[in-house]
Amino acid sequence: MTNFTPRFSSQSEALNGEDANVWAVSDRAHELADKGEDVIFLCVGDPNFDTPEPILDFARARLGVGRTHYSPAAGEPMLRRAIADIESKVSPHPCNPDDVVVFPGGTNAIYGVLACLLNPGEEIVIPEPMYIGYVPICDALRLSVKRVTCPAETDFAFDIEAIKATISEQTRVVMINTPVNPTGAMATPEQLRELAAYCRERNIWLVCDEVYSMITFAHRHTSLRTAAESLDNIVVVDGLSKSHAMSGWRLGWAVARGPLIDRLVAFAGATIFGCPQFIQEAAAFALEFDSYFVKQMRDAYQKRRDLIVERIGKISGLSCYSPEAGMFVMVDVSKVSASGQVFAEALLDAERVSVLPGAPFGSSSINHVRLTLAADEAELSRALDRIEHFVTSGNRQVG
Ligand SMILES: Cc1ncc(COP(=O)(O)O)c(C=O)c1O
Repeated sequence: MTNFTPRFSSQSEALNGEDANVWAVSDRAHELADKGEDVIFLCVGDPNFDTPEPILDFARARLGVGRTHYSPAAGEPMLRRAIADIESKVSPHPCNPDDVVVFPGGTNAIYGVLACLLNPGEEIVIPEPMYIGYVPICDALRLSVKRVTCPAETDFAFDIEAIKATISEQTRVVMINTPVNPTGAMATPEQLRELAAYCRERNIWLVCDEVYSMITFAHRHTSLRTAAESLDNIVVVDGLSKSHAMSGWRLGWAVARGPLIDRLVAFAGATIFGCPQFIQEAAAFALEFDSYFVKQMRDAYQKRRDLIVERIGKISGLSCYSPEAGMFVMVDVSKVSASGQVFAEALLDAERVSVLPGAPFGSSSINHVRLTLAADEAELSRALDRIEHFVTSGNRQVG
């Protein structure tokens, strides 16, 4: 008998090549924890709050009445209406439930949107530091990614001129994220309006990932959909993972206009065939009755941010700015370590604190590490004590 030789698609080959280094420190931290070591994890952006009880109750009730069957590919009307109502409330452009397509999470919504907009080899422009999850999506779709550097010296501020300068004749899509993971930077309404118009004039789609839209501190987020004058070339992605502590429910959506919606619905039909009914209905409930608990979580994140910023500011050799939004603080370690990677590895070795090196987010954050706000204040204080000890005791690896 001849041997079976497995052959794979180029798409799966592309995914297989994902940079294993991204989670190397975190993986090692888990191995140490499994062996019983006291490791503090400050690496992931998964909210450490439970999904609020009223949402759980609502989901249980919907399960109880048999909402466990197939759902329309575009999403349950109740949820599409709730999302459209929210969009209409803040935006000068009314939003219709038909403008909304529901996906199992923002990740899948982004995948679906990009799959509908670009062919393999075509060009997408993305500012960095950027969310690590964009890389496998672009790899799987075999896109040609042109990165726009937002330098550390400006606290990674959204740089519209740099984006414009990177756009070429070949660019099909510009994808931005505001507030940004990992930097917390936010685009202003004026920047969004200008970029939307600039892209539209050049027949380019502008996709905006807004999954941190509800976790902002000094001022509220403005959606691209609110800021843009015309919606023809605009796609907004959002979801409940972060704002409502519902990461495991896998619920996100895309808002767009016109023919793209038909394509997104067809894509969702082919690949997902509808998200669970009871989850979508609980999501609609969450969006309608969320003001109390979203604020509670936002306030908690703000206190945690302030705690980290204050403590880091007192550790000689480390520095950070105070992010406007999001769930992370970027710490500059350039004065004490050769790179964020070196710092993260040595910190785990010496103090058993797991942080994410900045390099995988982009070249401008190579000298940073990312600390999550998804840990309570006591845990953060413990971690910061260890970080302080690490830096001041000379345990760190310089060079
Ligand atoms: C910027 C950004 N976009 C999208 C996602 C994916 O979110 P979801 O859980 O909705 O797939 C994340 C998750 O960390 C993120 O940080």
